[in-house]
Amino acid sequence: MRRKPNGASLDIEKSLFSKNGDDKRPVLITGGAGFIGTNVADRFLSAGHSVIIYDNISRPGVEQNLRWLQETHGSQVQIVVAEMRDAANLRYIVGQVSKVFHFAAQVAVTTSLISPVDDFEINARGTLNLLEAIRSLRNPPPLIFTSTNKVYGHLADVKMQENGDRYEPVDAEFRNNGFSEKRALDFHSPYGCSKGAAEQYVLDYARTFKIPALVFRMSCIYGLHQFGNEDQGWVAHFLIRALEGNPITIYGDGKQVRDILFIEDLVNAFLLAHEHMGELSGKAFNIGGGPDNTISLLELLDLIAEVNGERPEVEFDTWRSADQQYYVSDIRRFSAATGWSPRVGVCEGVTRLYDWLLANRTLSPLDANRVDGKTVSLNEAKQLSIMHSLQQTREPRSKRLWQEAHGNNGIFTPADGRAGR
Ligand SMILES: NC(=O)c1ccc[n+]([C@@H]2O[C@H](COP(=O)([O-])OP(=O)(O)OC[C@H]3O[C@@H](n4cnc5c(N)ncnc54)[C@H](O)[C@@H]3O)[C@@H](O)[C@H]2O)c1
Repeated sequence: MRRKPNGASLDIEKSLFSKNGDDKRPVLITGGAGFIGTNVADRFLSAGHSVIIYDNISRPGVEQNLRWLQETHGSQVQIVVAEMRDAANLRYIVGQVSKVFHFAAQVAVTTSLISPVDDFEINARGTLNLLEAIRSLRNPPPLIFTSTNKVYGHLADVKMQENGDRYEPVDAEFRNNGFSEKRALDFHSPYGCSKGAAEQYVLDYARTFKIPALVFRMSCIYGLHQFGNEDQGWVAHFLIRALEGNPITIYGDGKQVRDILFIEDLVNAFLLAHEHMGELSGKAFNIGGGPDNTISLLELLDLIAEVNGERPEVEFDTWRSADQQYYVSDIRRFSAATGWSPRVGVCEGVTRLYDWLLANRTLSPLDANRVDGKTVSLNEAKQLSIMHSLQQTREPRSKRLWQEAHGNNGIFTPADGRAGR
C-alpha cells in the first residue's frame, strides 16, 4: 500500500529522515485533514513514519483527504477528531509525538470579518493551547507554524504601477526581490490579527521558553488535495469553477499579483526547516513562489483558458477588505539558510492541479449555486457559504458524515477515553 516518495524530493528526505531515524514516535499534524496537512502527512507516511492527524474536520471536503490517506497508508495514520480549543486533549496528544506541524486554523479573512471571536479562539487561543502543551514537556518536540503574508498588512506605503494585466511596485527592489521579513508588521483583518498574534506567541515561546519552533509567513500555496473556495485557495477555486463551467467572481480589477508556491515545494521547505531547526528556531521566514512564480488573477484566467480549452466567464465585484494589490515573498533568507528554492513553475503546477482535479474532484462542497440542496442566487450562496462554514466550526457536519460512513475505524475521539485525560 505504501508508495515511494517522488524522486524530486528524495535527497531532502534522506537527510532529514536519517537524522531522525531513531525517533519512532509519530509526527503530529494539526489541521492534517486540510490541504497542506494532507500533503505533509503523505510525505511522512510514504517514508515509513507514523502520523497523528488532529482536526475537527470543519473544512468542507476534507473528509475526502482523510479517506484517501487511510486508503493509501492504512493504520500508519491515526485520526483524532478534535478541537484546537480543547487544551486538555492537545496536552495528551502532544506528549506522544516527535515533531509538530501546526496548520489547524480558521483560514479565511471573509469568515474572520463575520465572526472575529471564533477566529481568535481558534487561531490565537488554539495556538497558545498547543504551545502550553509543548512547554509542559521535558523534551519539547520541534514545532513549525504556518502564518500568513497578511501580517504585513495592506502595503499601502508601497507605490504601485500597472503593467498590462498586473500591478507591480514602482520600486525595483520590491519588483525584483519581493517583500522581506524586515517589513514592519501591520496586522490587517481579524484573521491577520489572530494569525499574527499566534505567530508572535510561537516566536516568543522559542525565545522565552526555549521551545524549538519557527514560523513560515506564507503567501499562496496551491496543489493536489486542495478544496479551494471563494474565501481561500483561489487558484484551486478558479480551476474548480472553470471545470464546472461556472462563472468566477473577481473582487477588484483582477490585476492583483501573488507569488504562488506548489505544495510539493512547500513540503520540501518544511523538511529542510526541521533539518535546520537548531539554527533557525525563533525565526520567521517569508515563504512563497518568489519573484519567479508570480501571476495576476487575470493572467491565471488566461492560463486556465489554455489548459481547459476555454476562458472562464468572469463577474467583477468591489475590492475585498485587506486585499493587497501586489504581494510577492522575498524568499532569499530561507534559501540562504537551507539551500531551498521552488522547483515547480506556475504553468507546470497549475496544469498538475488541473489534471488532479479532473481525475479526483467530486462535487464542490460549496458549489455557489447549490447550498443545502437549494438553488439560490450567487449573493445568497456566498452568505450561506460563510454561515455554513461558521456553523461547521461550532459543530462540524462533516465530522458526523464521516463517522456515519466509516464508524470509528482508525479514528479516535475524546469520547473514546484515550484522549483528554
Ligand atoms: N493555503 C494557503 O495558501 C495558506 C497561505 C497562508 C497561510 N496558510 C495557513 O496554513 C495552514 C493550513 O492551510 P490549508 O490551506 O491547508 O487550510 P485547510 O482549510 O485546507 O486546512 C485547515 C484544517 O484545519 C482544520 N480546522 C479548522 N479549525 C479547526 C479547529 N478549531 N480545530 C481543529 N482543526 C481545525 C480544518 O478542518 C482543516 O482540515 C493554515 O493555518 C493557514 O492559515 C495557508
